[in-house]
Amino acid sequence: MTGTTIGNASDPATGDVADHGPVVDIAGVTVRYDDVLALHDVSLTVGSSRVCGLIGMNGSGKSTLFKTMMGLIRPQAGTVRLFGSDPAHGRRRGEVAYVPQAENVDWSFPLRVRDVVMMGRYGTMSMLRRSRGVDRAAVDDALEQVDLTGLASRQIGELSGGQRKRVFVARAIAQDARLLLLDEPFSGVDARSVETICQLLRSRAAAGCAVLIATHDFDVLPEIADEAVLLHKRVLLHSTPQTVLRPENLALAFMPAETERSDGA
Ligand SMILES: Nc1ncnc2c1ncn2[C@@H]1O[C@H](COP(=O)(O)OP(=O)(O)O)[C@@H](O)[C@H]1O
Ligand SMILES: [Mg+2]
Repeated sequence: MTGTTIGNASDPATGDVADHGPVVDIAGVTVRYDDVLALHDVSLTVGSSRVCGLIGMNGSGKSTLFKTMMGLIRPQAGTVRLFGSDPAHGRRRGEVAYVPQAENVDWSFPLRVRDVVMMGRYGTMSMLRRSRGVDRAAVDDALEQVDLTGLASRQIGELSGGQRKRVFVARAIAQDARLLLLDEPFSGVDARSVETICQLLRSRAAAGCAVLIATHDFDVLPEIADEAVLLHKRVLLHSTPQTVLRPENLALAFMPAETERSDGA
């Protein structure tokens, strides 16, 4: 049994992927950092063409879940399958794009905007990583979509919060991945950037991608997400954004002391 599931959990969650299985299939995942339990028995499936919002307070395990999905953390228990395969497989093939939380990026590293977006193309390049015309065209196109063409030669450390997020969204777009994982893409971002990112992600979902977004932005959630997951180390609820955002449900995740179970989570 996977946490406490309330409401119509099986309803919108899996998407229509009967033929190929879900894009994301996480089963019974537990992650510990030494004596800190970050994720406990987390199971989650997300289908293609779905935008799934991940919400939970700081320390609830959102970033850990993304890193586990990227194969950067190996869970102590449970399995992660992306497109039916091991996470490392999808990552190597460039099928999974990851927009990390800003705190996890070294902004002093001397990279230009264009260099970061070009990284999205590495999965399809040869060992020497020499860009071809098609790569440069994909980067130009992605920069234009996030409205950063004019800043292509700027160092990433010189950008505003919203511009930085857009660089990483552009990298994901240039990568042409089928699964997008975005860790708090709206935090510290101006309204115009939020709007740009939302539109891009919706159009990626319409093109068949699965999109997972960790966010504290409850206003944006119903606009962008088809489904939402309430996380507090375990999955408390997986339902529509409207259901997850009901105060009595949010209280489960944001006042966990009152709802904590006695089994260590
Ligand atoms: N590298 C790490 N080493 C030790 N503990 C960590 C590490 N990363 C995260 N944690 C802990 O794991 C828990 C979940 O963290 P995290 O996944 O970052 O949550 P969120 O992204 O929801 O804020 C927290 O208690 C956090 O302090
Ligand atoms: Mg986080």
